[in-house]
Formats: sequence, structure tokens, C-alpha cells
Amino acid sequence: MRNSRRKGQLRAPVAEAMKAYAEDGALAFHTPGHKQGLGAHRLLRELVTEQGLREEVSLMEELDDLHAPGTCIREAQELAAALYGADAAFFMVNGTTGAIHAMLMAALQPGDTVLLPRNAHRSMVGGVILVGAHPMFLPPEIDDELGIAMGLSPEVVERAVREHPEAKALAMVSPTYYGVASDLRRIAEILHAHDMLLLVDEAHGAHLKFSGELPVQAMDAGADMAAQSTHKLLGSMTQSSLLLVREGRVQPERVQNAASLLQTTSPNQLLLASLDIARLQMAEAGERLVGRAVRLAEELREAVNGIGGLSSFGRERMTTPGAVALDVTKVTVSVRGIGVSGAEAEQLLRHAYGIQCELADAYNVLFLLSYADTQREIGRLRDVLEDMAEKHRKKGIFAMRCRMPGIPLAVKSPREAFFASSMAVPFEESVGRVAAEQVMFYPPGIPVLCPGEEITGECVEYVREMLGLGIRAVGPRDVKLDRIRVME
Ligand SMILES: Cc1ncc(COP(=O)(O)O)c(C=O)c1O
Repeated sequence: MRNSRRKGQLRAPVAEAMKAYAEDGALAFHTPGHKQGLGAHRLLRELVTEQGLREEVSLMEELDDLHAPGTCIREAQELAAALYGADAAFFMVNGTTGAIHAMLMAALQPGDTVLLPRNAHRSMVGGVILVGAHPMFLPPEIDDELGIAMGLSPEVVERAVREHPEAKALAMVSPTYYGVASDLRRIAEILHAHDMLLLVDEAHGAHLKFSGELPVQAMDAGADMAAQSTHKLLGSMTQSSLLLVREGRVQPERVQNAASLLQTTSPNQLLLASLDIARLQMAEAGERLVGRAVRLAEELREAVNGIGGLSSFGRERMTTPGAVALDVTKVTVSVRGIGVSGAEAEQLLRHAYGIQCELADAYNVLFLLSYADTQREIGRLRDVLEDMAEKHRKKGIFAMRCRMPGIPLAVKSPREAFFASSMAVPFEESVGRVAAEQVMFYPPGIPVLCPGEEITGECVEYVREMLGLGIRAVGPRDVKLDRIRVME
């Protein structure tokens, strides 16, 4: 980035405007009701700080308008776009879920076909319901030994494009929660040759831009839009995300319209400022900070692979057709070899050792390293893993009995199923009925059932086994799945 442009990056226009408003000292006859902290309860003051509350205002002229940005929000969004090499960036205050909904609403129309790898996050299915699009599910590559989805292969995309020339777009996750990145460059070429869009759920990729050792970020690989969770791996507050846009096949005005339709008219200024400051932090020191996380993660991975019974895959595992690169800051530790499940290991780590992992699945626990970590945290985690492997080892290797079932038959579109009358029936008696809700285990983050799909015996068996392992079901109203909602 040129020096003059970098200089602009060292400002935080939204945060500056908030501070200026607070310092101006105008007597507040406006929302929020706590009136810049004057009426705030002590607990809220402790939580947000006096200064934070003084600046927690919105809709003032000088604070700009998220729905028609013209001053500080516009400037902050332009700085974000420039840093990430996009043509436009949108601040999102309903997480990457909101960003994904806006992305699909901007790119698709009711009745459009969208190619959707089955390991889509539920926000993708939610977006499809909102738009009224028809998903054509594509199978991601699965690594049976690790028990996780590894990415989407260009060959599967090529076939899908041939079989569904009517499709408008492919909407896919990359990298996955476990850091596995697909060949986005190749996939973008295939799609663009057929006039289709590449829409990327890059929830786990907000930091990729800042290290040459990480997978290439979606915008640089040719994606038309990418939704990033700034709050997951960088320094903005939970719930704040970025939607990045490449102009051409997508019109930024449509994205603005979709974002405005879906977002609150009272965006929390602290969330907006935190996006602005997270961008500033990366402009200041992104390469150094993310580079440190990469080094620490590699060190941790090496240490884990030296502990008997534990293992952590690295770049050498990127051999399945879908996987081309790994975000090494995601350290997935397989605990199968010490005879426990990922869920058991998560509980042990939390309650016997005071360590909380990011997630656990049947075989693995995932540790997420970010720019905030230092040698101290890594050292402690390494010691704990050594101790756990020694003291809590059980006989044998942990293995699941049944595999993830195939994609069930879609009898109705997700939107039809969502709006249809539904009833709850005992799950064990639901085989042959049409699901009205989504059921998945997160991880592996692949829906067992989507709304509109026919429930099979295989699905019921798999769900029972996952619940038995202590893995929480995501999606159904009854998370224990004694009953499931089906179409009437
Ligand atoms: C792959 C993926 N996409 C999208 C989301 C949604 O992000 P958010 O929680 O910011 O709405 C998540 C959240 O975990 C995710 O893992």
C-alpha cells in the first residue's frame, strides 16, 4: 500500500466522530435513554465504562448514517475496502449471519438456483429462505479419519455448473472452521466462465490478508463478495462483521439496499467504531501480529504432535481434492488416540484445567490462535495437553460407529418448508416425514437435515449417536430431539 494511502489508514473516522460529539458536550435530549451514561445503572457503567457510555449515541448528524453513509462511516468503509483490496466494504452489525443474508439478498432473486456445498453454515440456509432461492447441494470432501469436511473440489464445481447451467451463483465457505481452504482461484474461474457469481462465507478469514503464510483471501482469489467475521479472529466486538464486494458482476448499490433492509435503523455506535478500530489495528501492525500467531500456532502444533496419543494435522494433510491450503492458526487436536471423544476432552480441559477450546467434535478439539496470543498461553496449553494425555488416557482408540448420512431427498424448498404449517412428532417416529427445521451438529457443521428434506432412518441413527457423545444439536427447537418439527 502506498505511503499516502497508509497514512489515511492510521485514522479511525467513526471513533473520532464519536469522541468529538461527546467532547462537544451538547445537552442530550435524544436516545439512548441512559443519556450518555447519566442514568446508567452501576453495573452497566462498570461493563461499558463511563467513556464508552458517553460515546454510545447514534443518529447524530456528525455520526453519519449506516444506511446512507456520507461522512465518517463512508470514510471508514472506504478505508476497510482499501485495506482488504475490495471495491466496497459494508459494516455489518448482525454478525456474519447478517452479512451472508445481505450477500445472498443482493446477488439472487426469488426462484434462482444457487449451488451450495453441504457444509454451509446455517446462515446460508437462512439466506436461501429469505431470498426464496433453490439450493443445489454439493458434497464437500470428507476426511474420514479426521471426521471433518475438507473443502470443495473444482471438479465438483465443474460438474455442478454443467448440470445446473441455470444457477446464478455458488455460495461456499472457505476456509472452514478448521482452517481448510478450497481452491477459490480455480473455482472463481470456472464460475465466471459461466457467468455465475462466487460468494464466499469467509467468517474465519478476516486475518488472511495479513500473512503470506495463510491461504489467499477470497477477494484476492476472484470472489465477487466475501463475508468476514472481523469479530471472530480480529479485534472488533462480537456481532460486527464486514461484507466485501468486487464491483462488476455485483452492484454495490444492491448490496447497500439489502444491508439496509436487514439491519437495524439504530446500529450500535460502539460496534461500528470497533470495526473501524480493528481495521486501524491491522493497518498499523497486522503483518507483525498475525505473523506471530502463525509462528505460535506452528510451535504448538509441533509440540502436540510430540505428545503420545495426540495429533494435529498441518499443511501436509491438504491432499484431499478440495483442500489446497491451511490456515495454520487453527490448531485441531485429535484426541482419538487417548481413547476419549472431543466432547469429553473439552469438558476435561474446561473443568479440570481451566482451558476453553473453540469447539469440540467427535474426534477433535480446536484451539484458535489469534493476534492476541503470546508464548505464555501456548506454553500453558502445551503443558495441559501433555498432562491430560498422561492422566486421562483410556484404553483403545475412540471411534464412532456410524458415518454422516447422505444428503436426504429434498421434497420442498427450504422456504416452502419454513412457511408451511408444522407439528412436532417423536423423533424416532419421524422417518418418512418432511423436516420443517434444520438439524446439524456444529461441528462438523454439515446439516443432517434441512427444512424440506425427507427424514431417513440413517439420519435418526446418526443424530442419536451424536447426541450420545454429548455434541449439541443446532437448529431444532427441541435440542434434545425427543421431538422434531415436520411439515403437516
Ligand atoms: C462458517 C461460518 N459462517 C458464518 C457464521 C456466522 O457468523 P456470526 O456468528 O458472526 O453471525 C459462523 C459462525 O460461527 C461460521 O462458523
